[in-house]
This record gives sequence, structure tokens and C-alpha cells, in this order.
Amino acid sequence: MRKRFLFLIIMVIAGTLIAGSQEPKIILTPRPGPEPRINGAKIFGVRPGSPFLFTIPATGKRPMKYDVLNLPAGLRCDPETGQIKGTINKPGEYLTTVMVTNELGSAKREFKVVCGDKLALTPQMGWNSWYVWENHVTDKIMREAADAMVSSGMIDHGYMYINIDDCWSAKPGSTDSTLLVEPRDKNSMINSNRRFPDMKALTDYIHLKGLKAGIYTSPGPFTCAGHTAIYGNEEQDIMRFVQWGFDFLKYDWCSYDNIGRRDTLPDLQKPYLLVSKILKKQKRDIVLNLCQYGMGKVWKWGKEVGGQSWRTADDLGGSFEGIGTALFRDGFDVYSRDSLHLYAGPGGWNDPDYLLLGYLSNWNGKTVPTPLTPNEQYTQVSLWSIVAAPLIFSGDITRLDEFTLSLLTNDEVIEVDQDPLGKPGHRVSKDGNMEVWERQMEDGSYAVGLFNRGENETNVTANWTDLGFSGKQRVRDLWRQKDIGEFKDNFIVMVPGHGVVMTRMWALAE
Ligand code: GAL
Repeated sequence: MRKRFLFLIIMVIAGTLIAGSQEPKIILTPRPGPEPRINGAKIFGVRPGSPFLFTIPATGKRPMKYDVLNLPAGLRCDPETGQIKGTINKPGEYLTTVMVTNELGSAKREFKVVCGDKLALTPQMGWNSWYVWENHVTDKIMREAADAMVSSGMIDHGYMYINIDDCWSAKPGSTDSTLLVEPRDKNSMINSNRRFPDMKALTDYIHLKGLKAGIYTSPGPFTCAGHTAIYGNEEQDIMRFVQWGFDFLKYDWCSYDNIGRRDTLPDLQKPYLLVSKILKKQKRDIVLNLCQYGMGKVWKWGKEVGGQSWRTADDLGGSFEGIGTALFRDGFDVYSRDSLHLYAGPGGWNDPDYLLLGYLSNWNGKTVPTPLTPNEQYTQVSLWSIVAAPLIFSGDITRLDEFTLSLLTNDEVIEVDQDPLGKPGHRVSKDGNMEVWERQMEDGSYAVGLFNRGENETNVTANWTDLGFSGKQRVRDLWRQKDIGEFKDNFIVMVPGHGVVMTRMWALAE
């Protein structure tokens, strides 16, 4: 009996050691240097007459001075903060030059402002409260998220949205008194619950930091978590969001089934057409994110109904333990099965849900590290960038470890996601578990991801014939930010289990 007990103890200890030694968190992203470097989007869309806000994302030693040459009339750049603000009245394309200077030198880059009817000329970048705070979100949490977006330096890499998800409005019938408020005021305009005492003050706080604010609702009478939603009050609530100063609206589907239908395409499109029509009348740019889980192949018509992004599948983190499985299913398979890359582009993006890194809710009252292995985490960020997905982090932004931060802030990877050509990538070859994905970039180069969906490390081959290349290519490892060499005909590399080697390739003159 004692022997058996001893054996059991040894097995438990060995098991813990093996689990603990699984995959070290290897940081590949080099730390940003002290010299100034301009990051993030190179193009930005605004509608005439709408308030403009864009903070120049730049890394380098502080203090830093910002300047923009050839800004269109109506805009001004604050030299201390790099915030560009104002309004443009005249539609047009304005090519400006951004300059950032510190004691070590200066950096310069073109930045195009397009004043017209298109927003989201590159995929949105930001943070959302859902996967870490779910139904506990408060004003304080949102303010702390905005603080952390700045103090962590994420803002310097192009992240700009701080988005409240579900649970900010009344919850009729709740036993929690903070949620038991009148759902609407006497003009039928929606109220926030007691956890959000002053929404306007909250968005002012977020805007002062050079960031933008997002909110959430559903076309039915209730949100997915049973809070008051928009149904029947669409005009009033959108006006409310404008008054409150929001810049982004996630528009779900929940409870709409009780009052609408989903049988035909017009049924599915109806609630989105209704809100986007109201949004277009406002003198404020509110990016519209459709969250109906891909029904009716939404990628084919999301843009037509006024969406700037649309969820392509169910919640990636609906089951905490299932995140890894969902990543490979909804990330890789949904995309390749339906050739999603054909439909997205500047003004409208496929949204496979948030970056599930760092600390997340386990849906059981605890905040715990993501169940994704380090290699799976590299895989998520790489795949999202190749398919031009919004980069919206939904872990605890106030508790970022070095590894998570390094995944979120690799400027060469972000450059792929934010490429101004806006051509989402796609899979070009599959050989068992080995997949090669390719994205054409504005400068004529290609981002190429070599993925290994199997559990054991293996060589993955990117063949020029699959990629449409000829001749020699200069190959750069984007996570390490290092050139690997020059290759002809193919590029073969060892890829860890569930991992990726993300590269960029430039054709060399013969
Ligand atoms: C789901 C949605 C999630 C989250 C949740 C809130 O429908 O897909 O992203 O917003 O509702 O209740």
C-alpha cells in the first residue's frame, strides 16, 4: 500500500515537472530601440465634418517632438503628444509627412489622410473588456485600461480603441443593485448602469489620452448577457452614443431572434442596415463591428450593410479550455474553406474575434493565464496579421507580462496587419499539418507564414510555385526582425508544434 502511495506521489511530481517545462515563453521580438521609429497605420479615413483624432504611434526615447507636414486645413498636430485633431470639411486624399524627433535623431514617414465616406482603411487595433472582465466591467476598469494602453507603450505601436463590451446598461430583474437602474430616460434614451456613472466623462478621459472609445449593444431588446439593448430605440440610442462620444460600436445579434427572423439574407441584413443608416447621418465617425458569428456568410455582404468589420465565426473563447481548438478551426479552417480573403479590404475587415493572450477569465470566477501555448500565441498573432484581422487584445491589459507585451508589439508583424494595400492573405498550400499562407504587401513584397498545425516540430516548405514567385528572394524573419538569407525555388524551415515562422520576402533583381 505504502509503495503504491509513493509511486503515485512520484508520478504527480513528474507530471507537474513535465507540464511546467512545456514550451518556454521565448521572446523573439527585439525591444524597441531608443531612436525614434514611427509605427502603426500609414493611412487613416475620416468623414467630412467629423471630429478627427489620430495619435502618431512612435517608439523611442522620450521626450519626443511630433510634427506633420502638409496637414489638410482643419487639422493640427500637438508637438508634445503627437495627437492630430480637428475636422476636415473638404473631401480628398491628403498626403502628409509625419516627423518624430528625440535627442538621438528623427524619423520621417508618409501618412495619408483620406477624407471621404470610408472608415477603417486598415484593421482596427485596440482592447476589449469581454474576455477578461465579462460581466464585471466598470468605469474604473475602462479608465485603467486606457492608462495601461499608454503606460505599457501599446499606444506607440498603433493600438487606439478602448472598447466596453456587454454589461454597461441596465439589467432588468437583476439581484445586483448596481445594475437595477431605469433602462431608459423619459426621452427613451438608454441609461448606463451604476457601474458607469458618467459615460461622457469616461470617453473624455479616453480621448484625452489620444485613444478612442467603443461601446456595445444588440439589435434585440436584450444583449447576450441579458442587459437592455437597442430594439425599438435605434435612433435614440445611436444619438446617445454620439452624445457620449463613442467612436466604435460592436453590434451583436442576441435576442433579435425573438423579434426578427434569420431565414433569408434580407432578414439577416435588416438590423445592420437600420443602424448603419442612422450612423451615417451622425457628425461623428463610429466604426461598426457586426457580431453575428458569420451567419449567411456575412463576409460577402458585411461591407454593403455598412459594417467596417464582421465576426466570421462563433466566440473564439466561448469555452476556455477550447480556445486552442477554436483557434485552428475558426482561424485557419473558416478562412480557407470560404476564401474569406476575397471579400475584405480597406473599409471592411473579417473579424475572427479577439487576441486571447495574457490573463483571461476562465468563466468560473477566476482570471488565469491563456490556455494557448506560447507557440499557439505566436500562431494567433501571425495568422491574424496575415489575414488582416482587427488586432483587438482582450486579456488583462493592466497585467501584461513581458512575453504577452512582446507578442502584441512587434512592429514588423503589425506592419503586415496594417499594410495600406489592405489585401488580406490566404492559404497557398497545405500538406497534412503544414500550411503556407501568403499576403501581398503594398511595396511589392509578400508576408509568408509557415505554420505547423501538428504537435511535433517539423520542416515546412514554402515553394515559389505555390507563392507565385520566380528567382531569388530575400527572406526576413518578422518575429526576430532579422534577415535569414537569400533563397531560390523554395524556403524550408523547422517550425515548432502548433507554431509558426512568419517571414516577409522581397524579390531580388536577377
Ligand atoms: C457574444 C459575443 C461576444 C460578447 C458577448 C457578450 O454574442 O460574440 O463577443 O460580446 O456576446 O455578451
